Amino acid sequence: MKTLSALLFLALPTGAWCADLPPPPTFGTVEILNDHCLACHSAEMVLTQPKLPKPGWQAVVTKMVKVYKAPLEEQAIPAIVEALEKLKPQ
Ligand code: HEC
Repeated sequence: MKTLSALLFLALPTGAWCADLPPPPTFGTVEILNDHCLACHSAEMVLTQPKLPKPGWQAVVTKMVKVYKAPLEEQAIPAIVEALEKLKPQ
């Protein structure tokens, strides 16, 4: 729950994200989720998933892009998948 509160807290001041901005050079997990995943659903949607191996997260992120049209930069996807893989299970 600590991670979730941190995510929600950090989501407040950075609420607006822009698909046109290039991804920042370094990513932390929280920043990645804030910037790319919380526009459409809550952090809970991501954090309540069972722990997935890398290909599992890759598939989720691909689905977000292909099915739900998440505005993710292609070059940012490997970093996003890596950060998601490091998420601790609840
Ligand atoms: C453009 C909107 C959008 C963005 C951006 C987005 N998602 Fe989603 N996501 C959805 C929708 C819509 C659902 C399905 C919601 C439902 O079933 O109630 C979903 C569901 C999910 C689920 C639930 C499991 C599943 O496969 O349906 C996970 C996990 C998830 N998203 C992770 C992410 C992650 C990680 C990111 C960032 C890399 C992200 N999402 C970005 C729209 C988005």
